Amino acid sequence: MPELARMCHVDDLQDGGMIKSEVLGCEYLVIKLAEDIYVLDASCTLEWTDLSKGSLEGEIVTCPVCKGQFNIRSGDVAREPPTFPLDTYNVKVVDGTVYGEVSGY
Ligand code: FES
Repeated sequence: MPELARMCHVDDLQDGGMIKSEVLGCEYLVIKLAEDIYVLDASCTLEWTDLSKGSLEGEIVTCPVCKGQFNIRSGDVAREPPTFPLDTYNVKVVDGTVYGEVSGY
């Protein structure tokens, strides 16, 4: 059953930027793009690299190691070498606090 995990405050996010949030040992990427906020796993599915150290261009996040890419809306691989998608999570904003609907933490 999904639970709401506090990720950050909306003021922590810049449009077109990303931050990493750690919740009970799990790391999430939190991204604001225009009016939308996205929460997804922060580790590349190829070698568990920290994607927050990569780059973001529009809806595409690029891994800093071998430049694999993921779509932040779907988590799908946009460019190999990674072959497995990132998990993405529903987002809720309550009184300025951003929550991800995560499970199993
Ligand atoms: S570790 Fe992410 S693409 Fe190589």
